[in-house]
Amino acid sequence: MEQTFVLVKPDGVQRGLIGEVIARLERRGLKLVGAKFLHVSRKLAEEHYAVHKGKPFYEGLINYITSAPVMAMVWEGPNAVAVVRQTMGATRPYEAAPGTIRHDFGLTVSRNLTHASDSVENAIAEITLWFKPEELVSWGRDTDRWIF
Ligand code: PPS
Repeated sequence: MEQTFVLVKPDGVQRGLIGEVIARLERRGLKLVGAKFLHVSRKLAEEHYAVHKGKPFYEGLINYITSAPVMAMVWEGPNAVAVVRQTMGATRPYEAAPGTIRHDFGLTVSRNLTHASDSVENAIAEITLWFKPEELVSWGRDTDRWIF
């Protein structure tokens, strides 16, 4: 089963959209297997966005992601990487399709609400960077007990 890494960025947290993001991913049928609410250190931010070091937006991106708390999560399901990227919409909210999170709540790339891994390989690397193995919860849906 595929896993992917998701961040509700500082603007999403400040605007009270954590629940909205979680609700949309749950409704798609994905399963939450890890979550933590934290203020990102500059060191973690630089590791996470290392590939963008030197790009014109890099400093702004690091300042933005460390400016206020984020919600970091791991979601699991068939094709989780692609499904989550599709649910988020294009990186630039003005290019995102209607019905996606970035379209419905965003305007500019510098405040685009969420981050999601863009490949299975990067998902593994990002999950490893943000979570210890014991922080991920392996669980099944016990339909006999909870759903009638
Ligand atoms: S690139 O150069 O094409 O790889 O960059 P891109 O995929 O468009 O964006 C990479 C991440 O940087 C964020 N970004 C920005 N943040 C703040 N300000 C500006 N101007 C900006 N431009 C790009 C973009 O949201 C991507 O972050 P994540 O968290 O992966 O969505």
